[in-house]
Amino acid sequence: MAKILVTGGAGYIGSHTVYLLLKNGFDVTVVDDLSRGHMHNVPLKRLRELRLQDTEALVDLCDTVKFDAVIHFAAYIAVGESTEQPELYFSNNVGGSLSLFTAMRETGVRRLVFSSSAAVYGTPKEVPVSEDAPIAPVSPYGESKAMVERMLRWLDEYSGLRSVSLRYFNACGAEPGSGLGEEHEPETHLLPLVLRAVLTGEPVTVFGDDYATPDGTCIRDYIHVSDLARAHILAVEKLLEGAPSDTLNVGTGRGYSVMEVLRAVEKVTGKKVPYKIGPRRAGDPPELVADPGRLKRTLGWEPEYTDLERIVATAWEFEQAKKENK
Ligand SMILES: NC(=O)c1ccc[n+]([C@@H]2O[C@H](COP(=O)([O-])OP(=O)(O)OC[C@H]3O[C@@H](n4cnc5c(N)ncnc54)[C@H](O)[C@@H]3O)[C@@H](O)[C@H]2O)c1
Repeated sequence: MAKILVTGGAGYIGSHTVYLLLKNGFDVTVVDDLSRGHMHNVPLKRLRELRLQDTEALVDLCDTVKFDAVIHFAAYIAVGESTEQPELYFSNNVGGSLSLFTAMRETGVRRLVFSSSAAVYGTPKEVPVSEDAPIAPVSPYGESKAMVERMLRWLDEYSGLRSVSLRYFNACGAEPGSGLGEEHEPETHLLPLVLRAVLTGEPVTVFGDDYATPDGTCIRDYIHVSDLARAHILAVEKLLEGAPSDTLNVGTGRGYSVMEVLRAVEKVTGKKVPYKIGPRRAGDPPELVADPGRLKRTLGWEPEYTDLERIVATAWEFEQAKKENK
């Protein structure tokens, strides 16, 4: 079975992908510095605790294991933090990626799946957003993803590195029974924040209710983390079969407003969501929904979770289990 290096595999999406890779019989090694991830997310014998910026250690590891491909999740992900500390985001997300690509070149690893983001589109003019929409990020985080994508285009042309950049929309949910779930610290994503508001009684803030959308709140494309993980496996398999480089949106193609998410949480939990309305956040587009057509055509991918309440139920199960274990 193929040997896969997963960077950032102790994080939320990475750990779900490692779980699925192992289930499918891949030989997996995780590199994570645990700066934002959790040791309990990965089988210990699979984990190498190191920073991507340590090129020498990566070269050693790649030389020893002889990976067939890399799935590269490791990055910092908070848009707000990236506006406060842009240097940190460029050094970690772009510098870390460059170090990884250098180690891959030195050791002859020529296949990569990269975690990109819908943040590369900034505020898109047309929704649903296709991969041909202009790249116009509105935060250092989004720019860091766009920079790595651009780097990969050059490395495809001149270094023979074949890659698939997956531009995720809003990842959420948890794989039932896996013990894995969304545990960012601090958490900035809507669904876990809403569920925690239900559990603690502390109101969650809805950022803006005066957008030009049917109920005034922002619309997003919520993609279940297990569907996202599956897209990585399909992408890596395709690359290993010799497919060329590509860039693909990963979303369901269906948008839900913030208020719809709150209502879905109330239905699933049977409890009222305490919330307050706050000001809009800079750079938040009113509507961000994927056109996933290219992903479906290229990889034969279809989302298994298309119903928001089903997605919410998986995240709720995880939050409750976490509370019980505390
Ligand atoms: N969560 C989302 O909705 C979303 C949306 C679009 C794109 N993405 C991208 O997906 C990827 C994973 O996101 P996530 O939500 O799982 O984030 P996460 O923070 O849970 O996981 C990232 C992991 O990378 C590790 N890491 C960060 N910098 C590192 C470095 N220099 N060296 C080694 N390890 C490092 C962290 O410790 C963490 O375990 C990121 O690249 C993110 O930009 C996420």
